[in-house]
Amino acid sequence: MKPASNGKHNIGECKQVTIRCLSELGWFDSKITVETIKKAGGSDTNQWIIPWDSKNAAGFCSLIDVELLDGSHHKFLLDTGWNKEYMENIFRRDGIDKMLENGEIEFLFISHEHLDHYWGLETTLKYNPKIKIIIPDTFYPEGLALLKGADFEKAGVSNKIPHEGDLIKTKPYAVEQIFEGCASVTFDLPIVHHVSGEQSLFFNVKDKGIVCVTGCCHQSILTLADFANNNIVGGENIYGVYGGFHIAPFGPMNPEREYIVKEMGKYNFKKIACNHCTGLAAVEKMLELDYPIVRGTGSLGSQSDLYVGNGDEVIF
Ligand SMILES: [Fe+2]
Ligand SMILES: [Fe+2]
Repeated sequence: MKPASNGKHNIGECKQVTIRCLSELGWFDSKITVETIKKAGGSDTNQWIIPWDSKNAAGFCSLIDVELLDGSHHKFLLDTGWNKEYMENIFRRDGIDKMLENGEIEFLFISHEHLDHYWGLETTLKYNPKIKIIIPDTFYPEGLALLKGADFEKAGVSNKIPHEGDLIKTKPYAVEQIFEGCASVTFDLPIVHHVSGEQSLFFNVKDKGIVCVTGCCHQSILTLADFANNNIVGGENIYGVYGGFHIAPFGPMNPEREYIVKEMGKYNFKKIACNHCTGLAAVEKMLELDYPIVRGTGSLGSQSDLYVGNGDEVIF
């Protein structure tokens, strides 16, 4: 996509973005996850050789429905969770299985290779092996192998259904328009457990502003907002943010995490729908600072009603 004369990218406009959080829960018990990581050698250990506890695995996955100005819709999945049985139940619960089968869901957008976002791939492919998949161009060979069909026995992840559809790989820092009012950007950075790069989404909602959508936002919510400010037409007005912000995923606040939450204030977001690895302590801090946090129902396995959780919906 070519930038406009001011160097910013015009991604077009859409009318409304509805995000249904199918699951924001990476795993059930953080204590088990932390213990497994510690035993395996810490956060630098390759996720594909860690003996994860499959009974503790859940997964992050959202359904995004974008209405264009002409009233037509684009629906797609952001990530595909981790545990296959868990994802199967969720897909049945919300009719995602049927929507995949009948082609109503156009594509699968994978934010990054982390186990809780990507390893449930087979559940999506089971219902539509020809679905278009968009990944960051920074995937490791293991992640690409999973697409083709592979079994990583030690880590307890496999895919028996090879992907047959189009595979789009997004180059780092290129603003890629996906359709009118929607673009993606890959941030190239090393991430814990042998993952490289994460891509996030930008929507331009008419009369509201830019909406940034993330999986884990390992690049930091401040980097994401700055990118919109500097590179997207209308990006000086960020209306909303959705997803995991990776601020306090495993625990309490510290000065570094406090700094990120305080700095978020300068963007004057109108709607903050965070969940997943944002961490409850970080959400509580945002509420203390009177940020406009979208609440949830705290049901279907989500730990709190202070944020948009499993089965909850947010409209931008
Ligand atoms: Fe995650
Ligand atoms: Fe992650």
